[in-house]
Amino acid sequence: MHDLPSDTPAPSLFTWEFATDPYPAYAWLREHAPVHRTRLPSGVDAWLVTRYADARRALADPRLSKNPVHHAEQPHAKGKTGIPGERRAELMTHLLNIDPPDHTRLRRLVSQAFTPRRVAEFAPRVQELTDGLIDAFAAKGEADLIHDFAFPLPIYAICDLLGVPREDQDDFRDWAGMMIRHGGGPRGGVARSVKRMRGYLAELIHRKRDDPGDDLISGLIRASDDGEHLTENEAAAMAFILLFAGFETTVNLVGNGVYALLRHPEQRRRLQRSLAAGETELLATGIEELLRYDGPVELATWRYATEPVELGGQRVAVGDPVLVVLAAADRDPERFADPDRLDLSRSDNKHLGYGHGIHYCLGAPLARLEGQTALATLLTRLPDLRLAVDPSDLRWRGGLIMRGLRTLPVQFTAVR
Ligand code: HEM
Repeated sequence: MHDLPSDTPAPSLFTWEFATDPYPAYAWLREHAPVHRTRLPSGVDAWLVTRYADARRALADPRLSKNPVHHAEQPHAKGKTGIPGERRAELMTHLLNIDPPDHTRLRRLVSQAFTPRRVAEFAPRVQELTDGLIDAFAAKGEADLIHDFAFPLPIYAICDLLGVPREDQDDFRDWAGMMIRHGGGPRGGVARSVKRMRGYLAELIHRKRDDPGDDLISGLIRASDDGEHLTENEAAAMAFILLFAGFETTVNLVGNGVYALLRHPEQRRRLQRSLAAGETELLATGIEELLRYDGPVELATWRYATEPVELGGQRVAVGDPVLVVLAAADRDPERFADPDRLDLSRSDNKHLGYGHGIHYCLGAPLARLEGQTALATLLTRLPDLRLAVDPSDLRWRGGLIMRGLRTLPVQFTAVR
């Protein structure tokens, strides 16, 4: 990786080269235009915030609203999502699109059901799912780790946690596949998949109300705050956002994480030695470092100024969208020593990969559990895991918010 010279003009963003390796462009922006107004591929103008200190401040600033009604250009209202109006309004009312006091109330309710304890108790099932997926391709000696592993793992995990019966989970795999394959592409199939998934969840919630179980959906229905409960619509929107927020992120945590380890053999050997010795510490710091180094969420979700905001010497006007570039902030040399180096034992590592402030990732404990289980099991069961193609042949998805590989072809000799 090489830095762009400082006398070059502003780098072009959102190109194919940028999708492959955005870090040199981010280094240039941090240095020369840390709060930078740019035109996005959708034609919408937005501010990109790339320094760590500014990013942290912006993520916690109550004047930067998450509610799209504050967007001056209102592209959401113009139907660019391709999802019909009424359904869209319903889908858009979720944690990531609302401000206090509504956000505070909904987050408190969901936190009662989605507890760290529920996640900890789920560990054996995540291990079982991980082993089952590896069993299915281990004998072949080759696999596409995105399609065969990183993609199905979080879908089955979240479905199980929510209480979606096993026999219905492959439908979710298909719907989610449609959503991830066509992200940014033809919209009809995506809208249809979203509709089916949303319809299924509404029906499931209805059923669980009469016949509750020990699952997260039943927990969402039970949760109450001063006698107030989630409505069925709110519970369905919540279940949907848990699936949506916890799916592609985890696919990319595993994909980007394995890829980074394959590109850094000395770090990977270090982790394998530590796992073989039964240690867990390097695995725990290692997952955090992989999130910092090449995390799944390149940009935090949209924010809109409700008052003029001074940020990094720029004046952000009312209605302007602000995009906090987590991937750039997490490589800021003002905050991280030697930021372009992958160091699995990095301890001073308050990265922004899970965001910051009131919208901090609700699913972080589950993501950590899945990430740690996936990486530890892959490296232990497929110890000689290697790329099956030249790195230059790999393609990145190139969406705006997420960063992840389309495929990750590998070869290996399985043990056990
Ligand atoms: C919020 C990252 C996995 C559920 C967020 C945010 C980030 C993030 C950066 C804040 C976005 C913002 O402020 O604009 C990640 C990463 C993950 C991951 C890197 C995996 C490695 C999950 C999982 C779930 C989940 C597994 C649930 C099953 C959520 C929810 C929010 C959120 C519900 C919204 C919280 C709120 O607005 O109060 N996540 N996430 N995430 N995440 Fe995650």
